Amino acid sequence: SKKNIILLLASATLLSTQAHAAKVYQVATDAAYAPFESVNEKKEIVGFDMDVIKAVASKAGIEVKLHNTPWEGIFATLSSGDRDLVASAVTITPERKQSMDFSDPYFEAKQLIAVSKKSSITNFTALKDKKVGVQTGTTGDEIVQKLLGKTNPNIKRFESTPLAIKELQNGGVDAVVADNGVVINFIANNKSSSLKIIDDATFAKEYYGFAVKKGNKELIEKLNKGIAAIKADGTYDKIHKKYFGN
Ligand code: ARG
Repeated sequence: SKKNIILLLASATLLSTQAHAAKVYQVATDAAYAPFESVNEKKEIVGFDMDVIKAVASKAGIEVKLHNTPWEGIFATLSSGDRDLVASAVTITPERKQSMDFSDPYFEAKQLIAVSKKSSITNFTALKDKKVGVQTGTTGDEIVQKLLGKTNPNIKRFESTPLAIKELQNGGVDAVVADNGVVINFIANNKSSSLKIIDDATFAKEYYGFAVKKGNKELIEKLNKGIAAIKADGTYDKIHKKYFGN
């Protein structure tokens, strides 16, 4: 009967809304990393990574919720199940791949050295007997460890990259090693910073990926599908242009 058909349609609609609302993927990000992730005046988490993950999610037909999460321990939120993915300018490294899975790369980066304009440092090896600030557990930390030794007290570790840069401005460290995008963004937005950039030719290319709990193939497939889709239809380029001007 007509009434039955209407009931059937109503319950089908209800079911599909429920199925759609069922899974919201929880995203961890250390939002002290402009232009990739930061908190604006309205207390919203914004940035390149956030625009990318939202666009990827929309193409993949999934929902995401952003959570500002300290970098230290950010990957543990995956294994504990508190978060489903980390979108935080995370470099894909062989060591990290042992304990988590990564999406396809979505951004190319490299390390840069920031020093005072008055500094005589001109390259990476000149940091050997210097105090170097890094964000704990980043690829910058790893690279500096290779030169200075893991336990060298001259490596000054900070819980965020802005704190490391602040210490450089205060003269507490001689240099900071961090991702290019963040260093360039800081100097561009703080004209009075009196810092300069050293681009060392020995630094390798790095690639950012979204990290998920090891074995979560289903989510990786969704993310990769989304990444491919935003690259194919120009969405990625638009976001890139918004944050990097090209
Ligand atoms: N790319 C570097 C790494 O993966 C630094 C990332 C830091 N990200 C952040 N949101 N603080 O180690």
